Amino acid sequence: MPKVIVFGSVNMDLSVDAPRVPAAGETLAGSGFITAAGGKGANQAVAAARLGADVRMVAAVGADGFGEELTAGLAAAGADVSLVRRVAGETTGVAVILRTDGENRIVLHAGANHVLTADDVVADLRRIGEKDDVFVTQGECDPLATEAALRAARELGLYTIYNPAPARPVPDDLWPCVDLVCLNETECQVMCGVLPVDDATCLAAARRLRELGAGAVVITLGAAGSFALGADGETIRMPAAPATVVDTTGAGDTFIGALAAGLARSFSLAESMSWGALASGIAVSRLGAQPSIPTAAEVEALR
Ligand code: ADP
Ligand code: NA
Repeated sequence: MPKVIVFGSVNMDLSVDAPRVPAAGETLAGSGFITAAGGKGANQAVAAARLGADVRMVAAVGADGFGEELTAGLAAAGADVSLVRRVAGETTGVAVILRTDGENRIVLHAGANHVLTADDVVADLRRIGEKDDVFVTQGECDPLATEAALRAARELGLYTIYNPAPARPVPDDLWPCVDLVCLNETECQVMCGVLPVDDATCLAAARRLRELGAGAVVITLGAAGSFALGADGETIRMPAAPATVVDTTGAGDTFIGALAAGLARSFSLAESMSWGALASGIAVSRLGAQPSIPTAAEVEALR
């Protein structure tokens, strides 16, 4: 079976509840401090691995306790971590999250996530990438390394999935190197200048990326499910799975990991989206991001 190779971020999320946002110089008593494994790259790798894919993670963490814990978590989910570097003198990426009145205020420190260069990642891909492997990347690592990786993956005959999150402009000539771009509503608005509120706006946004050279375009719409414009021009509308929502953190990452795992086992785009909908439906009904991601058996039980 083709592999799923993920180049992406590995973060520790540190969150605490506060009664309000402290003023400059002020100290407030907080509560409910938790640490949670995160980073879009790691979340997507965990999702693909739990769903049965042969996953290789390409990433960097600091030579610290967080890095050790996060790498162990990836391995426990079944991902191969032999290309996760521990970088001396760097910290592991962290997201510091202040929760007040149900609002999150987040400061992201990329740390080791920005250490891998285009040369590093391209060398990894040349070493392990084989035709028809699925390559997945996002926007939380060095942009030049990410773009070079997509170009190298395309040259090697890999199927490339790009999740531009956070969204930022990319050179037009990158799009022909992307077989599938997966965006949520916010990312769609930034990348395409269109807020996807219905099928017509989804189609208009997707057509824009197709015209620039992207293969398939998948837009996720939260509880409204997902929309796709396939490489052959077909449109797919996939409803979300019915769910009692507990925590939607990482819903999109679960969907993308499942999509990659499905495509690696030669599911059609529609079947892979259906798997993504079921997997993310389970994930939103449980607390946390990575811990809430289901296994292939749990998803199959719903089919
Ligand atoms: P992101 O987490 O990137 O914002 P979305 O919110 O679009 O991504 O969610 C991705 C997928 O997760 C959706 O396409 C849907 O299948 C599923 N999902 C998200 N929210 C819900 C929900 N409230 N109920 C059921 N499924 C959901
Ligand atoms: Na969850």
